[in-house]
Amino acid sequence: MTNSPEYIPGLAGVPAARTSVCYLDGDIGKLQYRGYPIEALSEHCTFEEVSYLLLNGALPNRSELNAFEAALRAEREVDAPLFALLKTLPAEGHPMDALMTAVSALGMFNPGDHVNDAEYRRLTALRLIAKMPTIVAAWHRIRRGEAPIAPKDELSHAANFLYMLDGKEPSKTAERVFDVALILHAEHSMNASTFSGRVTGSTLANPHAAIAAAVGTLSGSLHGGANERVLVMLREIEDGSREGTRRWAEGRLNNKEKIMGFGHREYKVKDPRAVILQKLAVSLFDELGPTPIYDTALALEEVMEELVGAKGIYPNVDFYSGIVYERLDIPVDLFTPIFAISRVSGWLAHLLEQLEDNRIFRPNQIWTGEEDRSLTPIDERA
Ligand code: COA
Repeated sequence: MTNSPEYIPGLAGVPAARTSVCYLDGDIGKLQYRGYPIEALSEHCTFEEVSYLLLNGALPNRSELNAFEAALRAEREVDAPLFALLKTLPAEGHPMDALMTAVSALGMFNPGDHVNDAEYRRLTALRLIAKMPTIVAAWHRIRRGEAPIAPKDELSHAANFLYMLDGKEPSKTAERVFDVALILHAEHSMNASTFSGRVTGSTLANPHAAIAAAVGTLSGSLHGGANERVLVMLREIEDGSREGTRRWAEGRLNNKEKIMGFGHREYKVKDPRAVILQKLAVSLFDELGPTPIYDTALALEEVMEELVGAKGIYPNVDFYSGIVYERLDIPVDLFTPIFAISRVSGWLAHLLEQLEDNRIFRPNQIWTGEEDRSLTPIDERA
């Protein structure tokens, strides 16, 4: 065999693209979208503004934002045949699978040259951002035998999604907290789902295929699926006192089990998104009343710092997002689809960037099998 290149498991640290979408320095907890710190974006912007920024590389002025919001609102509705398709899926199926199916089907309902026609490509991007929340909310209602709720034009992207779930308009605090959660999840550099979207897009596949691939990748428990498992895990801690939580965490670590919502391939400090979301979560609990699971989470964060803080394992964004969504009465299995309706903006920004200067992905491999084996005809094999 010729000399093999070095194998890097998980491609850790291997650059997969030149990009100007998101800057991340995990050693110091620095996260910026298109050069703007996440702290400033989450304080001053809406999800719509951040989506515009991600897609276009610059923040919109007032009239650009108005036009972008109007275009999103105009695309929120989903064709009835797509709902008919969702009705054929098993009600107990995971909403991420329903979303992945609906996103790929959406491409069939919107035929055309999504790849080479730059203007149509942008319309497709806008449609995906506008329609994915409608699909997630509609699926949630369809699986319970309820009719989907039509989007409400006067509501923001965040408020409209919450409204489409149960027909109730959220309070201003709930809308803002959810809006910021969408901003915080909208982009995160070359993570697994973004990479998979770029890989699929690099073949010049339809953007719906690229986003469906990204949705599938996000569904895994080591990626987007972690926020669901955080909540399930916190509920498992029967004694939420500091001592009880410590005993539970030690037991889990001794069994070499991962503790969900902690650790990150990039961050070696507390995820800056977790810091922002935690502050907002407190404002939500002040308005809606406390939630005991938050106290358990605080105890777990303290205990984990003592037990594994030295290894750089701190809370990531998923640790607090699940607690916020639960307080907003969102069912646990919608947490990851919510991640997807936010991250779609980042996926699309990367896809557009990939297509600007495309080369199909074709990595190398390290051969571990045998070579030049001689073939025995089937009747002569032992
Ligand atoms: N709980 C306990 N130990 C953890 C841990 C966690 N959540 N995350 C990492 N570790 C430990 C590993 O056991 C390993 O220890 P070792 O060196 O003694 O074997 C070390 O930290 C490195 O872990 P590794 O899995 O190689 O890190 P990674 O960079 O490949 O993985 C994650 C990053 C996110 C996949 C990992 O931290 C994880 O599984 N976290 C839980 C799931 C989660 O919250 N995902 C959401 C990410 S936003």
